[in-house]
Amino acid sequence: MAGQPLNIADIRKDYILAALDEEIAGEDPIVFFRQWFTEAEAAEITEINAMTLATVDANSAPHARIVLLKGLDASGFTFYTNYDSAKGTELSANPHVALLFFWKELERQVRIEGVIEKVAREESDSYFNSRPVGSRLGAWASPQSRPIAARNILDANYARYEQEFSSIEIPRPLHWGGYRVLPTRIEFWQGRASRMHDRILFSKDGAGNWERSRLAP
Ligand SMILES: Cc1cc2nc3c(=O)[nH]c(=O)nc-3n(C[C@H](O)[C@H](O)[C@H](O)COP(=O)(O)O)c2cc1C
Repeated sequence: MAGQPLNIADIRKDYILAALDEEIAGEDPIVFFRQWFTEAEAAEITEINAMTLATVDANSAPHARIVLLKGLDASGFTFYTNYDSAKGTELSANPHVALLFFWKELERQVRIEGVIEKVAREESDSYFNSRPVGSRLGAWASPQSRPIAARNILDANYARYEQEFSSIEIPRPLHWGGYRVLPTRIEFWQGRASRMHDRILFSKDGAGNWERSRLAP
């Protein structure tokens, strides 16, 4: 209720579910990420592919928002967006990014840092064509991150593109596509009792091999 003090400082939770040992983490963080992702799926966590994406703009100011992980292979983590959005502009100025997953039901966090590349046009086409019609029209209708005077402008844009593409396959707009984060650091965090959490970090060395270490919580 308005006026009631918020006891934010009193909110705390002890983490008790699991431990993270080096043998469990193994040698390859992508393989281990897949294992944790599979476990998150099995735990029926909703929106497990939602991740915070942090970017840095040309003035070194950070910006963060959620995007959805849509692909993962040995080279990296893929998401899709508008290349002309604020994040697209920031990524043109500075390709360094951080990704963050928080699967609270498993008391787990994964931090990923690396640089970005655009995915191949064919890969973006293929994913775009797999999206529902409404999402494909939305990619045309929304000038993402730009000011708009009112929602009905979006609705009008949507209706215009719906009409324009009523009898043809909706093409992918060139300003919309994928980015792949090529990781150089991946840290797995498992909450533990008394704030004695486990943190296993994988860092890429100069030769491109993963080195594993443990960090204090
Ligand atoms: C659960 C969730 C999933 C989202 N997924 C995406 C996504 O995959 N791609 C995207 O461009 N924006 C996505 N968004 C919207 C972004 O958080 C953000 O509002 C938008 O990309 C504009 O960001 P920008 O102005 O920093 O470029 C998502 C938001 C939420 C809350």
